[in-house]
Amino acid sequence: MANKQIAEKIAQLRQQLNHHSYQYYVVDDPEIPDIEYDRLYRELQKLEKDHPELITNDSPTQRVGDQPLASFAQVKHELPMLSLDNVFNEQELSEFYRRIQQRLEYDGSIEFAAEPKLDGLAVSLLYEHGVLVRAGTRGDGTTGEDITQNVRTIHSVPLRLMRDYPDILEVRGEVFMPKAGFEALNRKARENDEKVFVNPRNAAAGSLRQLDPKITASRPLAMYCYAVGKVEGMTSTVTTHSEMLNQLMAWGLPLCKERAVVTDVAGCLEYFNQLAEKRDALPYDIDGIVYKVNNLRWQRDLGFVAKAPRWAIAHKFPAQEEITRVNDIEFQVGRTGALTPVARLEPVFVGGVTVSNATLHNMDEVERKDVRIGDQVIVRRAGDVIPEVVRVVPGSRQGSPDKVKLPAQCPVCGSDILQQEGEAVARCSGGLFCQAQRKESIKHFASRKAMDIDGLGDKLVEQLVDAGLIDHVDDLFDLTVDQLSGLERMGEKSAQNLVDSLKKSKQTTLPKFIYSLGIREVGEATARNLANHFGSLEKLMTADEEQLLSVPDVGPIVAAHIKSFFSQAHNIEIVNKLRDAKVCWHDIAVAEAQEQSLAGKTFVITGTLATMSRDAAKQALLAKGAKVTGSVSKKTSYVVVGENPGSKASKAEQLGVEILDEQGLQKLLEY
Ligand code: IVH
Repeated sequence: MANKQIAEKIAQLRQQLNHHSYQYYVVDDPEIPDIEYDRLYRELQKLEKDHPELITNDSPTQRVGDQPLASFAQVKHELPMLSLDNVFNEQELSEFYRRIQQRLEYDGSIEFAAEPKLDGLAVSLLYEHGVLVRAGTRGDGTTGEDITQNVRTIHSVPLRLMRDYPDILEVRGEVFMPKAGFEALNRKARENDEKVFVNPRNAAAGSLRQLDPKITASRPLAMYCYAVGKVEGMTSTVTTHSEMLNQLMAWGLPLCKERAVVTDVAGCLEYFNQLAEKRDALPYDIDGIVYKVNNLRWQRDLGFVAKAPRWAIAHKFPAQEEITRVNDIEFQVGRTGALTPVARLEPVFVGGVTVSNATLHNMDEVERKDVRIGDQVIVRRAGDVIPEVVRVVPGSRQGSPDKVKLPAQCPVCGSDILQQEGEAVARCSGGLFCQAQRKESIKHFASRKAMDIDGLGDKLVEQLVDAGLIDHVDDLFDLTVDQLSGLERMGEKSAQNLVDSLKKSKQTTLPKFIYSLGIREVGEATARNLANHFGSLEKLMTADEEQLLSVPDVGPIVAAHIKSFFSQAHNIEIVNKLRDAKVCWHDIAVAEAQEQSLAGKTFVITGTLATMSRDAAKQALLAKGAKVTGSVSKKTSYVVVGENPGSKASKAEQLGVEILDEQGLQKLLEY
């Protein structure tokens, strides 16, 4: 190619790559698969390597600089970066509304641009003639730090704007870490025994504060823009905040999709409630809603007080984290004997409910967090998640309370507590001798996804075991109306209803029955896979390890649990008694062995997959006859690359091994 042609090709590739990034990050509607993007990217990389004189700073290949900084330079914000006043309820919101009406001397409806309040860090981006030249933190509002190198690594931030942009554009927005990326980052940190981040906001802050941009580049950051600062070199016809945000998006900048225009206090509240409902399902953390007067002339008229605009307000969600005191730490025994340390708390209102117990998960967590009785702790309750102790408030400890110790004996049955080498979980060795385990296994057996025994809730199971009416699940089917109606708070009618629903529950399905046995690590999905694979309980009970391992989702640990369960005489006895009691199901016709369409192919999986675990992907591949290994070599047929892939992805690139994204993998699995 002649030099001119090469320059043209380079320009064309950059334009294509920018367009596809925009479709992916801003419009959220990719036009090509990731793998095609990667191909274009590699093509550009190769041309630039052969013609380094043609490399420009705004090329998509130039996101990550290689020189760490000695320190951050300062940036001065020509227009101050403001913060927001808060309201916490309808009344305070109505007062805000009334204040605006009074200032504007207007008693009609007011329109607001409403957006989620993102929980990250405010950042200002400066574009000169469409090219990103500077990015700064808010700092004290007037002076911040120059984090240009780091912000350039954020893929949703364009290095160059698209069409008709002004000569100078300063935009403001929030840099944050999406929840999935945060989880993956912490998982990796835990695996490598490194420090974990407390929450996505801290992780985002820590990532932006790196002097080495390579580290920032390895962190899954994103940005949404929500306001403009200085603009020069264009006469704008835009009259509302929402139009201005649309304009930003047309220039290529990323914006939050949830934004809306609402009217009056009622409209604000409706939007607030909608987002509160959606909050847990959003891929990023938000801590409230921001309402901004939509009319830009009114914004100018209203102006500012101290550091916040009069025309905007943050409506905060109730806190998901609160401080309270640990009154005691106890150990609960679960169905499989696992001991869970639980903090008994001074009751505290958090995440919308009063919480008086919070889980400490296991002893490793107790040690890591070093929680002791009497400590002030931060308790978190997000959505429907079980409340947990996040950490001790530093410096809050009075005196020197003892460290929490794992009991040597089960607090319920007195059996020895065992903890296997390398396992975080300690267990009661009492098995079904332990009343706690017995109760939990009966609760599990009766639960909706298992035998679905209507009317047999957790409380009633406790009552029945405590009264000595049942010991094991098979005893349930011997219960009589007479026995039941003798129980406290149980009339004859409810006793009869329970006996009826026990009878009805006997007609079940094989997957439900397998699940209801409560074999360790055999959840609903695994039970279904086992049922479909073996077709009958007898086949499952007599399966050897190799047969078990060929079931999707079953690895060596699960296989060992299944084998051990069916090798214990008392479990076999219970299964037989259940069948004697006429618990029944239809066996499943098992299809002929699946076609081994991937026989002879070797796969490596790296990164986090969105729709299945890496293990599930592995099992699905094994079922098709493929081999799955841990390292990439010339012999590897495919490398499956998820989010945040490790070095295996680049190794595959070097060796020219075919790379598959998740969609590609699913296609292969369909055949
Ligand atoms: S508007 C003049 N919109 O909240 C308007 N801020 O508590 C200034 N924030 O410093 C901010 N999401 O870092 C605005 N959709 C949003 C926001 C938002 C998060 C942050 C921002 C600001 C802080 C104020």
